[in-house]
Amino acid sequence: MTGPLSGVTVAVIGAGTMGAGIAQVAAANGHPVLLHDTSPEVVAEALTHMRRRLEGSVARGRLDAAEAESIRHRITVAASLDDLAPAGLLIEAIVERLDVKRGLFAALEALVAPDAILATNTSSLSVTAIAAGLEHPERVAGMHFFNPAPVMPLVEVVSGDATGEDVAVAVAATATAWGKTPVRCSSTPGFIVNRVARPFYGEALRLLGEGAADVATIDAVVTGAGGFRMGPFALMDLVGLDVNLAVSTSVFEQTYGDTRFAPNVIQRGLVDAGRLGRKTGRGFYRYGNGAVAMEPATLDASGPVADMVVVVGEAGHAAGLVDRVEACGVAVTRRPADQGPGRLLIGDAVVVPTDGSTATELAARLGRTEVAVLDLVGDAATATRVAVAEADQALMRPGERFAAVAARAGIAVSPVGDTPGLVLMRIVAQLASVAADAVTFGVAGAADVDTAMRLGTSYPQGPLAWADSIGVGTVVGVLDRLRAFYGEDRYRVASRLRRATLPAPGATP
Ligand code: NAI
Repeated sequence: MTGPLSGVTVAVIGAGTMGAGIAQVAAANGHPVLLHDTSPEVVAEALTHMRRRLEGSVARGRLDAAEAESIRHRITVAASLDDLAPAGLLIEAIVERLDVKRGLFAALEALVAPDAILATNTSSLSVTAIAAGLEHPERVAGMHFFNPAPVMPLVEVVSGDATGEDVAVAVAATATAWGKTPVRCSSTPGFIVNRVARPFYGEALRLLGEGAADVATIDAVVTGAGGFRMGPFALMDLVGLDVNLAVSTSVFEQTYGDTRFAPNVIQRGLVDAGRLGRKTGRGFYRYGNGAVAMEPATLDASGPVADMVVVVGEAGHAAGLVDRVEACGVAVTRRPADQGPGRLLIGDAVVVPTDGSTATELAARLGRTEVAVLDLVGDAATATRVAVAEADQALMRPGERFAAVAARAGIAVSPVGDTPGLVLMRIVAQLASVAADAVTFGVAGAADVDTAMRLGTSYPQGPLAWADSIGVGTVVGVLDRLRAFYGEDRYRVASRLRRATLPAPGATP
């Protein structure tokens, strides 16, 4: 059993948000589908929604009307569990409760053929625990789809302690046959995506809590500099602050309090206040009638553009940005490195691409006052915004000197508090560290971690590939400085990243 489960009857148990979508995916790929839910109203609603979705696809010319009709005809409502006996692949998408799922799996095991595969779409429970107590736990695997299942390309195929390798391989091959991209992972808290994504929210919330930047500014930097489709606050509002908090809490508790996954008091407060995001009309932002546009903080860029930008030493992760302003007509001169960090000189202003040092420390080290630190940009060719932090010693707004230059390339500059790694670098460094540890702890392989983050959450790059492109040494330096600055274990460097910065055996230092 190594190929896809072609032609088998697929049973989907639970016809809610996820089950309805999964049933549609299976039917669209030619399987006879049996759809079961304890609530007949939910099944009826699921079929109505599915019909509307399919009609929408036909109207947009994406689907042939006859094919839409046959997809619908392939789905049969199963009134009782007994009707699911002919299924060769059963996908459970019921309420997220271990006791209820265990009861269901025990009942299913007694019904179906010995070679039928039992899959669970759980997003937070242990596949090992769901399968425990069954006569044949080896035939249980996680098949974790993302919402909306017909659209999202990723499927996490989760192996519990007892899951047979042939079962996981067959589930992954089936996902591929259904046009999805499967990644393999072990049954660990949050699997890949819900674990590795935690710092995306957690670091943004910490920056907000420290007053380093407001919601709109952090979101604008993450999208405009990082190329993420949505900022962390807009995304929490979309997903629901309560849902997002529940995932954070679950991963935090299941890792026995790993502080990198710690939920945040600001989010807790908003949930307690009923500000759950879009669904309640208010979360971090307001929606509907009371909506007020929140503008990101942006530095004045109307000052004179310096005649020349001097790059001393390596511009590091700011090299692409320098090339872009140069291409927009700003004169750039490059000077060899000296004792100081790689930096840009713009008139009196000294602008240092972040290595995790604060602007205030750098100003003291360089013996200068007009010092600013520049945040990371993802793709310099498409970035529309970047953050800077100014030194406490600065008297003349060195960030504005940089903003006038960046404006020539159409790039807005947001001022943020002087904390290590600013906004984007801090988030990406912490994502990379958690991703690297996920590999170390056997959650998944490095390629699958990156694929999962690109496809499950639409990140512009996988965190590990991103760390490589920034330079692992820079990422490790940022994390070390974050840890020293806050004195928190939360910023410990993943051993895999640390090792990557050590000289290869036998190399001359
Ligand atoms: P939902 O609440 O929309 O649907 C669950 C359905 O299961 C309900 O219609 C309920 O009547 C039915 N049900 C409950 N107990 C049952 C039983 N014993 N037998 C048959 N039907 C039963 O929930 P949703 O959001 O679709 O989630 C389902 C599963 O998918 C959960 O395990 C959840 O963690 C997981 N999941 C949810 C995602 C999401 O974005 N909503 C994403 C990925 C996974």
